[in-house]
Amino acid sequence: MAKYIVHQSGPLKGEVVVSGAKNAVLPLMAATLLTEEDCIIRDVPQLRDVVFMKEILASMGSAVKELDENTISVETKDIITTEARYDLVNKMRASILIMGPLLARKGRARIPLPGGCAIGARPIDLHLKGFEALGADIIFNEAESYVEARAGGQGLIGDSIYLDMPSVGATENIMMAAVLAEGTTYIENAAKEPEIIDLANLLNKMGAKIKGAGTDTIKIEGVQRLGGAKHTVIPDRIEAGTFMLAAAITKGNVTINNVVPEHLKPIIAKLRECGVRVAATDDTVTVRGDLGPQNSTDLMTLPHPGFPTDIQSPFMAFLSLVNGTSTVKETVFENRFMHVSQLRKMGANIETAGNKAVIKGVANLRGTQVMATDLRAGAALVLAGLVAEGTTEISEIYHIERGYEKFIEKFAGLGATIEKIED
Ligand code: UD1
Repeated sequence: MAKYIVHQSGPLKGEVVVSGAKNAVLPLMAATLLTEEDCIIRDVPQLRDVVFMKEILASMGSAVKELDENTISVETKDIITTEARYDLVNKMRASILIMGPLLARKGRARIPLPGGCAIGARPIDLHLKGFEALGADIIFNEAESYVEARAGGQGLIGDSIYLDMPSVGATENIMMAAVLAEGTTYIENAAKEPEIIDLANLLNKMGAKIKGAGTDTIKIEGVQRLGGAKHTVIPDRIEAGTFMLAAAITKGNVTINNVVPEHLKPIIAKLRECGVRVAATDDTVTVRGDLGPQNSTDLMTLPHPGFPTDIQSPFMAFLSLVNGTSTVKETVFENRFMHVSQLRKMGANIETAGNKAVIKGVANLRGTQVMATDLRAGAALVLAGLVAEGTTEISEIYHIERGYEKFIEKFAGLGATIEKIED
């Protein structure tokens, strides 16, 4: 198993370019199943999760071509099976996103229960509730670990669906199911993440009639068919946030290019509260961690536009070194403090009770052997490793490679030394 060896680095300096967003590209790729025509997606990051999604599409009958390093075309003349393979789906929770398109186009979708990061129970009840509201029958076989949705004879029929919580995946899946349904669908209490808007934009280019993406209520008027489209993936706000925190924690000066500052508002606000200078232009942010003291703050994760849960662990790595006592409350996932025990091994002073963590800033962290328990926990440990005395050995780094493109190279460009070794 490969490991990262992270060396203590001085303040990071320079510029870095953010890749296309992992959480946008996965639903975009799933959406290509909705048409038999060619779709071209640009700024596709080279990530393990993207490779998994390509394999899933290919197994459904899609012809997936790499037009250049970051551009793919997907053409699905016919869907050859509506049953997804366990070995592919098990690797990634986002594979559930093929269900909506399969159901819309073929009236049927059967998938094994999905895998992915072990951050809480992560049920799919809201996805299924949405399909059911559109008239599908749901067969949820826990013993054999699969779930199947079947549209009735007339296909899917538009309806109003209220989500008990604004689930990102459920909003995307229901939107993709509803685009080809008969009549109009309203998704109430919909997720408002930028990735939802990106998906709606692609679907509308394909011929869908979606309004209100990015607000609480999304209206989808069903159409008969969708066609091909060309689309560029939005920049990855979580990758951008990770580099912003790298600049802050190393007391560096880094300009992050290819960002939408609007998407980064909660991260910018919290960094500023801590005494970090952040300046934004239309498509860059410059983070100065080298100006003055860094102080504690209190934060709570929330659905967008609140503070993103995916930046909670990298932010906690930063807070473990600031002056004073900070608190972090995780409200989106119930089991997202797995990085805490690893940061503690490095000398951080963090106590947790339920979904709350209290972080007392310490002067130094120490390099040691730690484990990336999930994708963003892994990013947090890389950040901690950049400033810890000595070297930090991070195992289970395949989690990190699921979501960060050219991670080591990008850090090297800012002056950090991270080696990847095969154990
Ligand atoms: C997406 C992101 C993930 C991010 C998360 C929250 C992708 C590929 N992944 O995950 O990086 O951390 O949004 O911003 O885009 N829930 C239910 N029932 C459901 C679905 C979800 O109870 O049917 C709960 C989940 O357990 C969780 C909360 O809703 O507590 C939010 O999950 P959701 O927004 O669905 O996250 P994902 O789409 O899985």
